[in-house]
Amino acid sequence: MDLIELSKVEYLYPDGTKALAGVDLCVGAHQRVAVLGPNGAGKSTLFQMFNGLLQPSGGTVLVKGRPVVKNYLKEVRRMVGMVFQDPDDQLFSATVRQEIAYGLINLGLAPNRLEDLIGWALEVVGLSGFENKSPFNLSGGEKKRVALASVLAMQPEVLVLDEPTGALDPIGAAKIIGLLNRINRELGITLVFATHDVDCVPLMADNVYVMDAGRIVVSGSTAEVFSRKDLIRAHNLRLPRVAHLAELLERDGEVGFPSSPLTIGQAKKMLLDQIGRKPAK
Ligand SMILES: Nc1ncnc2c1ncn2[C@@H]1O[C@H](COP(=O)(O)OP(=O)(O)O)[C@@H](O)[C@H]1O
Ligand SMILES: [Mg+2]
Repeated sequence: MDLIELSKVEYLYPDGTKALAGVDLCVGAHQRVAVLGPNGAGKSTLFQMFNGLLQPSGGTVLVKGRPVVKNYLKEVRRMVGMVFQDPDDQLFSATVRQEIAYGLINLGLAPNRLEDLIGWALEVVGLSGFENKSPFNLSGGEKKRVALASVLAMQPEVLVLDEPTGALDPIGAAKIIGLLNRINRELGITLVFATHDVDCVPLMADNVYVMDAGRIVVSGSTAEVFSRKDLIRAHNLRLPRVAHLAELLERDGEVGFPSSPLTIGQAKKMLLDQIGRKPAK
């Protein structure tokens, strides 16, 4: 059974904007799924369906096979942890400890269990020792990691992240990507993230749904989706930079690639293979 399953989901905002126009999407346990789309595609609207923040105007949203309706919301929100695009929308407490404790207190956990989970979540995100700081004085990357820790402490099965690398500097973005991959690999937590950052997708997704104007326009494995170059470009997106470079080199007849490299690591390996060299490490 899929963890999250959407069928023909539609959403109409009260002003008449049709943000979702029949979306089908499945997220299996332990997968890393990207929803890639330009601004205004409907990604943030879609993500609010996953834990019942919005109810669809049409179609069905199932979490572990059950419709996300009122008497299932509490359970769904425990299983599906949501990290918002802007941490300032999520953070509201005076200290990092209080921020993370808030959700746990609502679950009715004993104080010693609370402290354990706070310490554990901060350790996972690399912010041990930040307990007494104010979330508002932290850098953008640190704020995102506090927001992530507060969701992680609830031990969700799925992490849903809206633009996890948005508004971060290159080091902050690389840290979040590494961290989310480790959370998936070591804790077995499923990842679903929305982005318009095509370069981050091959680094952290197994499956990709490309979305535009409220619809899924193509989906499949990351390699399959990025092989549909014309379609990607037709929807105001681009290839990862390294895939574009490979395309130019091939077009000019300079180098051939067995398949389109999507990350610098893949390109390096393919190029070394061509000149018959092994990577140094
Ligand atoms: N509260 C709202 N009221 C009316 N229209 C909205 C609202 N929020 C978003 N929209 C519209 O819905 C569409 C999808 O928006 P959104 O889900 O935010 O896209 P994305 O996250 O992909 O940028 C856009 O046309 C946007 O203008
Ligand atoms: Mg958005």
